[in-house]
Amino acid sequence: MLNNKINDAINAQINAELWSAYLYLSMAMQLEDAGHAGFANWFRIQFKEEQAHAEIFMNYVVSRGGRVVLKAIDAVPTEWKCPLCVFEDTLAHERKVTALINDLYALAEAEHDYATRGMLDWFVNEQVEEEETAKNMIDRLKLIGDNGFGLYMMDQELGARVYNVPAPLAAKA
Ligand code: FEO
Repeated sequence: MLNNKINDAINAQINAELWSAYLYLSMAMQLEDAGHAGFANWFRIQFKEEQAHAEIFMNYVVSRGGRVVLKAIDAVPTEWKCPLCVFEDTLAHERKVTALINDLYALAEAEHDYATRGMLDWFVNEQVEEEETAKNMIDRLKLIGDNGFGLYMMDQELGARVYNVPAPLAAKA
């Protein structure tokens, strides 16, 4: 059984994951509109991954006899000047998500809820990957600068990304 403090904190995290999904969908639409179909594909997949993160938390709450409460999702930004700006915002956002996951982890420890702490291990590792990926994209885009061919090649590459169901959700299927 989940205690109320942990249940409420996970519900807040579910909302944060859905906001992340909404943010990445907005980025995908903006990139699509700017003619960067490959970058847009990459962010459509981020959108799906964030929905999956919310689903992992929801499944967990249900499995522990808790109650999922879905709240309103705040509006997201809708304008970015360039692909580099999009990835800079992505990195800044993922750093905030990492802090949220760390806070949740600390709460689970303080409440002696070791099952929740164990469930969060996957998210701790996932955040390392999310931050590293965004940082790599920024580094590459800085190298490319205003080289149109370089941007075109990267767009082609990101267009080939396919969605993989995250492990904790795949295990449920
Ligand atoms: Fe759900 Fe991008 O962290």
